Amino acid sequence: MIWLIGNKGMLGNDVEKFLKERGLTYWVSDKEVDIGDYKALEKFGKDKKIKWIINCSGYTKVDKAEEEIDEAFRINKNGVRNIALFSAKKQIRLIHISTDYVFDGQQERGAVAYKEDDKTNPINIYGKSKLAGEEEIKKALKENFIIRTAWLCGLQGNNFIYTMLRLFKERDVVKVVEDQWGSPTYTMDLAGAILKIIEDDSVSCGVYHFTNEGVTSWYEFSRTIYKKAKKLGLIEDNKKVDIQPIKTKDYPTAARRPRYSVLSKEKIKRELDLKIRNWDESLKDFLNSLKEERECLESGVKK
Ligand SMILES: NC(=O)c1ccc[n+]([C@@H]2O[C@H](COP(=O)([O-])OP(=O)(O)OC[C@H]3O[C@@H](n4cnc5c(N)ncnc54)[C@H](OP(=O)(O)O)[C@@H]3O)[C@@H](O)[C@H]2O)c1
Repeated sequence: MIWLIGNKGMLGNDVEKFLKERGLTYWVSDKEVDIGDYKALEKFGKDKKIKWIINCSGYTKVDKAEEEIDEAFRINKNGVRNIALFSAKKQIRLIHISTDYVFDGQQERGAVAYKEDDKTNPINIYGKSKLAGEEEIKKALKENFIIRTAWLCGLQGNNFIYTMLRLFKERDVVKVVEDQWGSPTYTMDLAGAILKIIEDDSVSCGVYHFTNEGVTSWYEFSRTIYKKAKKLGLIEDNKKVDIQPIKTKDYPTAARRPRYSVLSKEKIKRELDLKIRNWDESLKDFLNSLKEERECLESGVKK
């Protein structure tokens, strides 16, 4: 009934956990079924009865995309078009994940959150390729749910929380950007929202925004990670780290980032009757799960 594309990625992993837990019938694919190759997609999907596709795959290397422009577009635009065309042909409803990077985020802190139909204006290649993917979906298929999210953190993948925990272990001073604001998103919470669309058998198609509630900067986020991780014993008692705020201009990256790209969740909360947790509550949950996982590993118990 459900085809999850990109199950080996950070978000895909958690979506699969939910599909399994809820006893739903599903198929999975990742890089072995290249979404950039329509024939490969068709070969995998043609004999299966599919009602929903959840696309968690994508080209996600934001800085690398500045050089690998063709590859970013091959996957995020052409690949997404292939999925949308296949969905249209087989009357499948598509849930696709997009990003806050479709906006320029050149607003000041405290500005109004972006609504779904606000003007897009990506400022890096990754954002442009993701926006192109959204446009391909809209052209090819009516039955689409495009969910824009931001600052994703999941237990199975590289993300800011893991980077910080590693740096807290390796260094005594950690410098973190203080002038970029957004809303972190726990992949388990987004996966829950995706599942809700399917379980409600929703036909309220369109673009949606989903992140955790609340706004923070990378600097504030890192300080909260430090405090909570310390409390849980994920950082050694005698290890003290001095976290220092720096400006974006002092941390140059290949791709420019939006400065303030907070997304309004009013539409998804209303349409799906969803309650969304604050980012620090979800962070606590993430770190508790990480602790549990590490303890299981240490004691040799398999979860
Ligand atoms: N991470 C964030 O902070 C963030 C923020 C906003 C939006 N998003 C969006 O959310 C979605 C999920 O993100 P994520 O962080 O979970 O991504 P991820 O961990 O990079 O997972 C993406 C998966 O897609 C696979 N893939 C790459 N090219 C493919 C292809 N041609 N055909 C089939 N599969 C392919 C990747 O394989 P390889 O790893 O082997 O390449 C990976 O397993 C993406 O659409 C992303 O753009 C992410």
